[in-house]
Amino acid sequence: MSKVIAPGKKTLFSDEILQDPYPTYARLHEEGPLHYVDAGSKWSVWSIFSHAECASIAKDPRLSAKRAKQMLLPLPLSRQGEFSELARMFGLWLIFMDPPEHTRLRKLLNKGFSPAAVEGLRPQVEAIVDQMLKPLQQGSEFELMHEFANPLPVRIILEMLGIPHELRDTFVDWSRAIAMFRGNPNRTVEDARAAQDALIELTEFFRKTVAERRRNKGNDLISLLIDIEEEGEVLTEEELYAQCIALLFAGHETTRNLIGNGMYTLLQNPQQTAELREKPEMIRSAVEELLRFESPVQFTARVLKEDIEVCGQPIRKGWTVLCMLGAANRDPKQFKEPNQLDLKRLNNQHLAFGAGLHFCIGAQLARLEGQIAILNLVQRFPQMRLTGPRPVWASTFGLRGLESLRVIL
Ligand code: HEM
Repeated sequence: MSKVIAPGKKTLFSDEILQDPYPTYARLHEEGPLHYVDAGSKWSVWSIFSHAECASIAKDPRLSAKRAKQMLLPLPLSRQGEFSELARMFGLWLIFMDPPEHTRLRKLLNKGFSPAAVEGLRPQVEAIVDQMLKPLQQGSEFELMHEFANPLPVRIILEMLGIPHELRDTFVDWSRAIAMFRGNPNRTVEDARAAQDALIELTEFFRKTVAERRRNKGNDLISLLIDIEEEGEVLTEEELYAQCIALLFAGHETTRNLIGNGMYTLLQNPQQTAELREKPEMIRSAVEELLRFESPVQFTARVLKEDIEVCGQPIRKGWTVLCMLGAANRDPKQFKEPNQLDLKRLNNQHLAFGAGLHFCIGAQLARLEGQIAILNLVQRFPQMRLTGPRPVWASTFGLRGLESLRVIL
């Protein structure tokens, strides 16, 4: 392998770029597929911007998904020790596992997310959306994130787990604390503390819930996980709680942003939105395009298991690389006119759900929720428009979403 050089750093995770990363992505695409970027206090990281390389790295067995400890690197070295429990608890999540453990668990968990299982949820999702939107008056002011995009996905995933939806607000708070740590490249010690506390409280909650559910199993995801734990060597008790937490978190923090980012994009493109309203059959390609255009997960990470070359750059074993999924989804080598929204885009091979072994297990569920939620909003409120100050993007760049989205219905 040729010599590893110390490259010049590029700024990517500043507040300004976070508000609109696309001009920076476009400039970096022109300069090359791989960049060394400043990622928090004293941490810099190689980041892949090209669609082809992101897709191939996600499938490369020389890279590991075990990266929970690396999430502490942006914190001051002297404080990282306080959060070993946080890294340990994250490390139990499916998304941070490698084969063969990942393969065994994923195969069993797939049952809960099969096309039939997801399609079976359609009447429930439609009923919940109807219940939430029916009382709303045309012409009234509405805060779309807090009153719709946030509560909807958490309600669905709680139903799938068999947990009463009255507990929704508590879960949203815990989930936000985890997101402020996980999705934020500039994460602080305070963010780490809040995320660690939330994970401990969630673990306690699931310890009690699982014990009760063992006595009274049903057709829900917790019962499926209990079956997996009881039937074999795949899951320990603690890993079972960890998967419950991971599903709750992943089911909520991403889909809320598909709905929020999607609606914000549509409100800025009224002609295409009007066409969607008239041709509801466009909703499938429309949601794929919204996932590409304003991707809810902007990046993911992998750790090198050995020295390798990435895009011709030698990188050392143990180093982390970021796959910039949001940038890959705007790669001009993959997409014609990548910065143009095209709700009818054909052959849209976006990477919003990742690629390879860790391809999102909830992709079909997210699509179902996104399609039903967005089409209902567009059809029921044809006059909907933005109001109030310009919406602000949250600092959780990895989980890209709006703090608030005020509209007139
Ligand atoms: C628009 C919504 C969603 C987006 C954009 C999204 C995105 C992603 C991405 C990019 C990955 C791969 C990460 C990596 O390779 O490191 C992933 C994995 C995962 N997602 Fe999603 N997701 C969404 C919704 C959901 C939902 C609704 C659930 C479950 C209820 C879910 C559960 C998971 C899980 C468990 C994994 C890990 C899979 C594995 O490691 O095998 N996601 N998701």
